[in-house]
Amino acid sequence: MALLNILCYPDPRLHKVATPITAFDEKLRKLVADMLETMYEAQGVGLAATQVDVHQRLVVLDTSEERNQATVLINPEITWYSEERVKGEEGCLSVPGIYDGVERAVAVKVKAADEHGQVRELEAEGLMAVCVQHELDHLMGKVFVEYLSPLKRNRIKTKMLKAQKEDA
Ligand code: NI
Repeated sequence: MALLNILCYPDPRLHKVATPITAFDEKLRKLVADMLETMYEAQGVGLAATQVDVHQRLVVLDTSEERNQATVLINPEITWYSEERVKGEEGCLSVPGIYDGVERAVAVKVKAADEHGQVRELEAEGLMAVCVQHELDHLMGKVFVEYLSPLKRNRIKTKMLKAQKEDA
């Protein structure tokens, strides 16, 4: 396994739209294993392939407290959103140190394949539902800060660019 490099906002590659996965092979399972390792190492609850510069419809997540319930979503589609929505604090491994409120459905159903190509439908609520919606946005090239006001977004962009310059 290997740790993957996570792209940081405002990297333009975060806005690429991912394409469906067609081959459920060893290469895919290696990518899933590497993404899980990368997510756990970074202490994230979810990671989309887009964030590691792989523009395919693949997401890994684990919202359990014990960090031992990995979920792999390949070619995921949300089939149902609850009418009830709630605004909650979100963060993102691609926007380190930034947390802000985003309104989401409190529950969703998502249909997706696992790394062996087995398709199933899952129902998610609470943190898991937020995570599914957040990660699926990544596959469409959308980062959560795009829900915020242009003013806030620009402040975040400036802060991120400054931090990246200092790191370089
Ligand atoms: Ni994210």
